[in-house]
Amino acid sequence: MKSIDEIRAEIESFQVENAENLEQFRLQFLSKKSEIQALFGEIKNMAQESRKEFGQLVNDLRDLAQNHYNEFKATIEAASDRKTTLIPDITRPASRQTVGSMHPISIMMGEVRRIFEDIGFSAVEGPDIEDDWHVFTALNFAEEHPARDMQDTFFIELHPDVLLRTHTSSLQVRTMEKQQPPIRVICPGRVFRNEAITSRAHCIFHQVEGLYVAENVSFADMKQTLLYFAQRMFGDEVRIRLRPSYFPFTEPSAEMDVSCNICGGAGCNLCKHTGWVEILGCGMVDPNVLENCGIDSTKYSGFAFGLGIERMTMLKYRTNDIRLYFENDVRFLQQFKAATK
Ligand code: DAH
Repeated sequence: MKSIDEIRAEIESFQVENAENLEQFRLQFLSKKSEIQALFGEIKNMAQESRKEFGQLVNDLRDLAQNHYNEFKATIEAASDRKTTLIPDITRPASRQTVGSMHPISIMMGEVRRIFEDIGFSAVEGPDIEDDWHVFTALNFAEEHPARDMQDTFFIELHPDVLLRTHTSSLQVRTMEKQQPPIRVICPGRVFRNEAITSRAHCIFHQVEGLYVAENVSFADMKQTLLYFAQRMFGDEVRIRLRPSYFPFTEPSAEMDVSCNICGGAGCNLCKHTGWVEILGCGMVDPNVLENCGIDSTKYSGFAFGLGIERMTMLKYRTNDIRLYFENDVRFLQQFKAATK
């Protein structure tokens, strides 16, 4: 049997470089079948008076082996941690970066803004939560006028004067109250109507409203401005048509259709087989509206228009369900990556 000193020398010279060496060390010095355990087994065969001293020596030897083992183990574990955290597998293919896209409504808003900004309109914004004056009264909607029913309004309960704006025409009023002509603004924004949600209508949608007030502004100016807009938006071959209409805030009023971008005028679902799609309302600002906002209607005249962004987006990107714009299904939204600038 090896002596205690021999075993101690072996422990001290043992080199551990990897997990296998470590296991060999454990088997040799710390397992049940190790030489140290065999020495423990010898104790009972010894003379009574040497047992205590010998037992102490073997105990020390076992502690020495255990301490070495713990140190080796810690060193090896630290090394393997370094391997996995500091040196990744550099041959692995790079992970894909996903690129987001702008929402089609934002893309369209930006496009409409750019077209009008190029001819001198500047954008103004204002509150979604409005009062009756800015949404209806100043815009010439009489108190009991049935035209108020044209736009089903969300009122803030308990307060009939506070409501969600049903059109961004409220910003015409806010602008004219603050500024004298010449005025050339567009008003992009979100609007709200208490309507059933279908493939063609939603209770939230977006508008861009335009307003031009100066001396001698005519209906012909309006028509030319809107033709320029339609051609830049849909291409030179697009045709427009103005149909007489009614809005309390304009006189005369019209609705503008463009030739259907989907069927080219031949007739399809979106244009209800007419070949035309309505995209905006417009007209000459009613003198009452100018006066309500502190502008001299004998000196100035103006035109205004309001267009629906969702309708335009459906036309431009040929989608047939307005609800897609509010569901945020990434499979739909991802398709607008190319249009994101
Ligand atoms: N505010 C109208 C709507 O939401 C759209 C509109 C029509 C705006 C004619 C105008 C306009 O400025 O002149 O249906």
